[in-house]
Amino acid sequence: MRSSQNQRYPDANEPTDRGLNWDSLADLALPHSIRKIVSRNLSDPPAFIRPAMSFRSARIDHIAIAFASYGELLDADFSLLRSGAKVIDPVHAWPTTAAECKEVQTSWLDAKWMSTLAVGTLPITLLAPMIHGDLISQYVSSCGRADIHHVAFAVEDIDSILGEVGRVLPELRQISVVAIDEALSQVFLRSAGDPRICELIERRSGFGGFFTCKNIAALTQGLRQE
Ligand SMILES: [Fe+2]
Repeated sequence: MRSSQNQRYPDANEPTDRGLNWDSLADLALPHSIRKIVSRNLSDPPAFIRPAMSFRSARIDHIAIAFASYGELLDADFSLLRSGAKVIDPVHAWPTTAAECKEVQTSWLDAKWMSTLAVGTLPITLLAPMIHGDLISQYVSSCGRADIHHVAFAVEDIDSILGEVGRVLPELRQISVVAIDEALSQVFLRSAGDPRICELIERRSGFGGFFTCKNIAALTQGLRQE
């Protein structure tokens, strides 16, 4: 399984309804280093996770955590494995070793180390900078430490939820286009002064991946323009 056009979680036939809400994160068997990061966000729920509280249909689809270095990512990866997490996508350089994404135009700013593991039914993606000044290193410096990079909420109709967000949660600003691929639509939102990202993700045809090559290029273009 790879971060690719056809990436699946955990396999093509597995239902993608993970049914996690924000509060259930507290019950997950997380290693100390990850729990510390998640708990900080749990104890003081910031604007970027408000869709979880405002919209009944919004379930947590996956979360991503950004680390300051490759070494920190490896430590977190090993800790998760020791806690019983299952590998979905081993540590790899994106996009260099994601062969399926070779056709997609990317900038050096998008390069990153990443891995994805499942803790119970929750996929957690770990991110780390590859090159000084890339988007992940910029992100971690704006947070001042390793932190949640984004929380993705699964929604049934991205356009109607976006309309609701505009009405009910005007503090959340759309920072990317709605990236649309055959299997997946995704969009990034942020609140002013907070680098953490709220992702809305609409899955079609039972697709179980976390992004498609085409979508990640569109989403990161939004981040580069921020
Ligand atoms: Fe995501």
